[in-house]
Amino acid sequence: MNRLWIIFAGFMITFTTAWIGLAMLPSAHYRGPEWGAQLGENDLLVEQGRGVFIQNGCVYCHSQQVTARNFRSDQDRGWGARRTVASDYRNDKRGLFGTMRTGPDLANIGSRNSSPQWHYLHLYDPQITSKGSVMPPMRFLFDRHKAGASGSTEALPLGDGDEIVPKPEARALVAYLLSRKHDVGEPPEAFEPPATQ
Ligand code: HEC
Repeated sequence: MNRLWIIFAGFMITFTTAWIGLAMLPSAHYRGPEWGAQLGENDLLVEQGRGVFIQNGCVYCHSQQVTARNFRSDQDRGWGARRTVASDYRNDKRGLFGTMRTGPDLANIGSRNSSPQWHYLHLYDPQITSKGSVMPPMRFLFDRHKAGASGSTEALPLGDGDEIVPKPEARALVAYLLSRKHDVGEPPEAFEPPATQ
């Protein structure tokens, strides 16, 4: 009969620790003053951009999660001023954590490079901005017009007289990239775990 209590206690301990680790601690990260922060006007565009990001396989080469300082060198590489926490994904319908890092982490690309022009050029042909890059060019996200035909102020300074203009998909994608800037502003509490020896 005594054994039954041991089994029961073992079950309760296992269940309680799992509940604390998997439910309570993550939800504590979500709470705080930032919870439910207002969505900006730009959000529809950003949401579309997330779709373009997925459709074009960006997620296969780019992660969106900056690890803690004592775990990896992400922050030293300039991928973010702090590690990523659960609440950083609160406005994302779908967090795109990624598994591969053929390219740099993009969790904070918006704070490290906020120039839409740079992103358009880089998407059109990564070789222009980053010589030797293995990132595939995304020219299909752009239209080519006769010079002066589009009248767009976003036309890229390329194309031997023609104008290269970002399509709506490219605009949405760049809005999404620029929205990735979680390391700006006050960090949520408990964002860095205690240092290990
Ligand atoms: C085959 C892998 C691969 C794919 C797919 C890929 N990238 Fe990249 N990306 C890279 C590499 C490698 C770099 C680093 C060299 C460079 O800047 O081009 C990079 C760099 C970047 C940078 C600059 C990062 C920085 O820190 O300056 C951005 C932004 C970016 N990629 C966005 C995208 C987007 C958006 C897509 C999808 C449309 C995409 N990438 C698809 C490999 C990839």
